[in-house]
Amino acid sequence: KKVVLAYSGGLDTSIILKWLQTTYGCEVVTFTADLGQGEELEPARKKAELLGIKPENIFIEDLREEFVRDYVFPMFRANAQYEGLYLLGTSIARPLISKRQIEIARKVGADAVCHGATGKGNDQVRFELSYYALEPDINVIAPWREWNLASRTALIEFAEKHQIPIAKDKRGESPFSTDANLLHTSSEGKVLEDPAQETPDYVYSRTVSPEDAPDKPTYIWVEFEKGDAVGIDGEKLSPAQLLTRLNALGRDNGIGRLDLVENRFVGMKSRGMYETPGGTILYFAHRGMESITLDRGAAHLKDELMPKYAELIYNGFWFSPEREMLQAMIDKSQEKVTGRVRVKLYKGSATVVGRESPWSLYDQELVTFEEGAVAYDHRDAAGFIKLNALRLRTLAKRDRKTS
Ligand code: ARG
Ligand code: SIN
Repeated sequence: KKVVLAYSGGLDTSIILKWLQTTYGCEVVTFTADLGQGEELEPARKKAELLGIKPENIFIEDLREEFVRDYVFPMFRANAQYEGLYLLGTSIARPLISKRQIEIARKVGADAVCHGATGKGNDQVRFELSYYALEPDINVIAPWREWNLASRTALIEFAEKHQIPIAKDKRGESPFSTDANLLHTSSEGKVLEDPAQETPDYVYSRTVSPEDAPDKPTYIWVEFEKGDAVGIDGEKLSPAQLLTRLNALGRDNGIGRLDLVENRFVGMKSRGMYETPGGTILYFAHRGMESITLDRGAAHLKDELMPKYAELIYNGFWFSPEREMLQAMIDKSQEKVTGRVRVKLYKGSATVVGRESPWSLYDQELVTFEEGAVAYDHRDAAGFIKLNALRLRTLAKRDRKTS
């Protein structure tokens, strides 16, 4: 028996690693992905070796470009937000990790995969739906649903018994749980559990507070091609480079903080704090680009379908026919979403202040208050309004009758 474990190198997944070896007696293959979480990966290799993993069973991969190009960008073409606000930073990373785990399982001939998500959250669902969609007969091991190491004390005891190194700051209960990648950092639990209490300052890790951001605005141009950002201020950038650059701009200007109570797929409400600095700038810039390049019918239809699309990603259905159908429609809409948008970054806000496109539908001649435009005859408007008013007038007349 062989199992591919999604391994971060941290204490929890190291305990899982040992637990797999001792409980299941199986050969463990570790997979550690760089999704831009901002942690060194080589320590994860050292630690895996220390825990007895053979060098050929240690997989460490930089997936940052693939993550942004094939997951984050397609999602941003839809302006996806779950429950009106959440930019889905954790949700969108899970399908990619799952996909690589399955590919590695095939390569090494493993019959099982394992993740470190708890039994109460969304992530277990996202990992496992993705595994099954890609490899229907795979065996899934979810230690947090199986073992009896529920308390911190039990975990630490297990770690000590098996000589797993424990960082000093990991001995005690951590004050909250985090998940990070190039798109966002999310924090949940413990000090954040009471939704009446404001998030303490020390929870924020990748943005300055808007109060401390510079008193002078920063202006940037974001360049788009077919719905994807491709450059900043005239400089071409790869997807991961671009998001990295926007993250730095967002960090400095206090952009992308979100305190949210959301509905988890498993049925409970949870309170989380998110920092999505670059993603927040990208979200507004993309909407600005669409505002002049999309027709009203196209724009409104994709806005109507967006909540459905966002919910599919949140609930873990990235690899589903319905997500792919919506994606095809969204991608089709982006064919002429090309041009550039001027964004003003200032004390927590990212405001679109200018837009240009070779495909612009904005017609100054048509809209001007000055005399102009032959395509628009004022007299047409009178009939347009009259016919639209017909049913409202009929209703009003009926309802005026007292009996
Ligand atoms: N609630 C977010 C989601 O479901 C984040 C979950 C992971 N975050 C964490 N701090 N463990 O996408
Ligand atoms: C977890 O339960 O592992 C994190 C939170 C979530 O998945 O919703």
